[in-house]
Amino acid sequence: MEEQKYDYGMIGLGTMGRNLVYNMCDHGFAVAGLDKDTTKVEALKTEKKSEYKVYSTSDVKEFIAALKQPRVILLLVPAGPPVDSVINELKPMLSKDDLIMDCGNSHYTDTNIRLEKLAKENINFMGVGVSGGEYGARFGPSIMPGGSKEAYKLIRPMLEAVSTKVNGVPCVRFLGPGSAGHYVKMVHNGIEYALMQLISEAYHLLKVGAGMNNDQLHETFSKWNEGMLQSYLISITADIFKQQDNLTSNRLVDMILDSAHQKGTGAWTSEDAMALQIPVPVIDTAVSMRDLSAFKDDRQAFQQLVKASEVKFSGDKKDLINTLERALYFSMITAYTQGMALLHEASKEYKYELRLSDIASIWRGGCIIRASLLEDIRAAYIAQPDLSNLMLSGIFIKKLSESQKDIRQIVHTGVDTGIPLPAFMSSLSYYDSYRSGWLPANLLQAQRDYFGAHTYERIDRKGTFHTQWNQKQS
Ligand code: 6PG
Repeated sequence: MEEQKYDYGMIGLGTMGRNLVYNMCDHGFAVAGLDKDTTKVEALKTEKKSEYKVYSTSDVKEFIAALKQPRVILLLVPAGPPVDSVINELKPMLSKDDLIMDCGNSHYTDTNIRLEKLAKENINFMGVGVSGGEYGARFGPSIMPGGSKEAYKLIRPMLEAVSTKVNGVPCVRFLGPGSAGHYVKMVHNGIEYALMQLISEAYHLLKVGAGMNNDQLHETFSKWNEGMLQSYLISITADIFKQQDNLTSNRLVDMILDSAHQKGTGAWTSEDAMALQIPVPVIDTAVSMRDLSAFKDDRQAFQQLVKASEVKFSGDKKDLINTLERALYFSMITAYTQGMALLHEASKEYKYELRLSDIASIWRGGCIIRASLLEDIRAAYIAQPDLSNLMLSGIFIKKLSESQKDIRQIVHTGVDTGIPLPAFMSSLSYYDSYRSGWLPANLLQAQRDYFGAHTYERIDRKGTFHTQWNQKQS
């Protein structure tokens, strides 16, 4: 038995958990790991460096006994029931002031329930978003902790040590009480879905519209990654086009089935945005397009039944690439804008007290949506902390107006050639709607009042009004 020697406990020794353990060890922490799967327990023992202070077991009692007190236990297990079953197993063995950190992608409402239940038993609980995939976990993720500020003090040095740094600043910040950390991580993933969809549409236009091959695509995305689009997702996209398939002589990307999967965090973002009445149409579109992609058989059948557009792209490829770069930049701004607007409202509604400049700051490194654009987003929120919509900030007004003609041209090309660009279109519509001082919602109100006596407000006097419309029965 290894009695009370280890600073931290990690439950779940899959790739993410194991990599985070090694990352903690690299920073001098002693970590005990627990997993029911003995092959994972053994993997941690055999792969570790000699200087690491690591212990692993599949016996929960031994695991608990190995931890220093108050115990700090990180969970990296699949979201949903597995989190509750681990907590229920641990509970009888924990003492007052012990801390459980759920580092998975849990739904924020589950985190609220767990927080409430565990608080009654004097056990600290934190919902901690961790982004950056396997590599991030190993060498520095972006970390989004929420819950008790007191409990955070206990883990802050470790989280700052293991997180990635941007200009020496750790990509971790206490975000707010309750489920703030998991909420922010959920919205991070919503933005992730939107950016991935936009990039995929750009790929569609370049591949099918302009007939570019994988080498040309690699070159284009690599070049984009050196400019205004510099970001993790653009850089991995450039790499993907180069990857050879090892089963055929083709590039791997061409051998992958065009049917997307999802674990749900994007849809959760859309659902909560709907509930809070904050429009996030680019994120909604991204979720719908993953859903639509799964209807592969229907799509193939329909393709045989209807005629494609007869218009082929005939413009200059170089111009298209340059225009698309600026259109993608425009659309990416609207994706971040929508996520940030949701966080702004959620902060008020759920009393998270979020500082959006901090969120932009910790997203600059380590996470999947890291991008040079986040530097400007951070600056915008430092200048105006309570900005309700990023598009209203001076810096983004300028950026968007400079590239709006580009996105119009790209959308136009999509419409003419029949290449679907729903996220680009949605981004442009969002912008156009937001910059419309007048929208046709007066007609909606009239219709509501006509058929349902729902009343309306007037532009020339206060109050609510109802009209006996000249009702038609047929
Ligand atoms: C991250 C990722 C990570 C995971 C997504 C994938 O920030 O590291 O977002 O959390 O890869 O949840 O989500 P889908 O399976 O829904 O695409």
